[in-house]
Amino acid sequence: MSPNGKQPVEIIDWGALFEDPSKPLVVDLGCGAGRYILLMAHRNGRRQNYLGVDVHKALLDRANGWAAARSLSDSVHYLQANAVASASVLFGSYPGPIELVSIQYPDPQQRRQRHVVGRELVEALASVLKPGARVYLASDFEDTATYMRNAFELYGAGRFCVDDIHATQLVFPCKPLTTLVKTREPSSVGTLFMREKTRTRDGVRQQGPVSVATAGPNEATSEGEPGDPGQEGRGASSVDEDELLWFQGSWQQAGWLGENPIGVPTEREVYVEKATMGRVYRILLVRSVP
Ligand SMILES: C[S@@+](CC[C@H](N)C(=O)[O-])C[C@H]1O[C@@H](n2cnc3c(N)ncnc32)[C@H](O)[C@@H]1O
Repeated sequence: MSPNGKQPVEIIDWGALFEDPSKPLVVDLGCGAGRYILLMAHRNGRRQNYLGVDVHKALLDRANGWAAARSLSDSVHYLQANAVASASVLFGSYPGPIELVSIQYPDPQQRRQRHVVGRELVEALASVLKPGARVYLASDFEDTATYMRNAFELYGAGRFCVDDIHATQLVFPCKPLTTLVKTREPSSVGTLFMREKTRTRDGVRQQGPVSVATAGPNEATSEGEPGDPGQEGRGASSVDEDELLWFQGSWQQAGWLGENPIGVPTEREVYVEKATMGRVYRILLVRSVP
């Protein structure tokens, strides 16, 4: 393993990390301080293994200490790795089923050097996760949550869909970018959206809407009209990650989950919801049957 977590992990000795690596695995990518999987292990017992992944070694060492102090080291481990560069090894080599991959409160997508969710990670997950595996995405910034959702819809090769829980639990609507885009005035759309963004962030690029047809059972719909800029002949592979925020897919209709479907918060979630009373944007995906 690389000392700074930048290089891909080459091989993982799962038997050295977990007592029984054939158990279902829960993964927390960008786990930070790591209490999320520790709380899950407490709550769920030893039915599953839990892996926290982060580049920040000091946090991981402390979290491994917490797991040891609670006699959970046989089923809870924190690993230093770049989640993107190491995704194929991480997810492709685990001997048991991968049940849940959580990506919560990642650094904003504008900070590309700390970027976790993008084409590379989504394509790796789409190719190695088995039907039924869940992917849970959450952020306290709607643009970051939207970016992650769009990445899975666009680059997931039709292998993911929104979990049914969105139909049975409380949800709230996504920002109505579609309504704005339907004005067919890309320049004013961009301006309106920029005003929204600059209230919370710096450095968001002004871009026009992107709508493409993708393949698969939960495909995105192309709502554009012939002649729209960027419409003709475009497929998922041609949409740059810089355009993801403007991708007009169908998953936005599922809305954001009003409550954490996993039932366990991360440190960031506790801060956002309890200290700042802020809103969280959540979506639960499931790897669908091919
Ligand atoms: C804002 S913190 C959120 C931590 C935690 N998920 C939470 O909700 O409290 C983002 C974390 O992602 C980690 N991170 C950023 N890029 C990463 C990458 N490529 N691979 C693994 N972890 C990464 C950072 O080190 C940091 O701990």
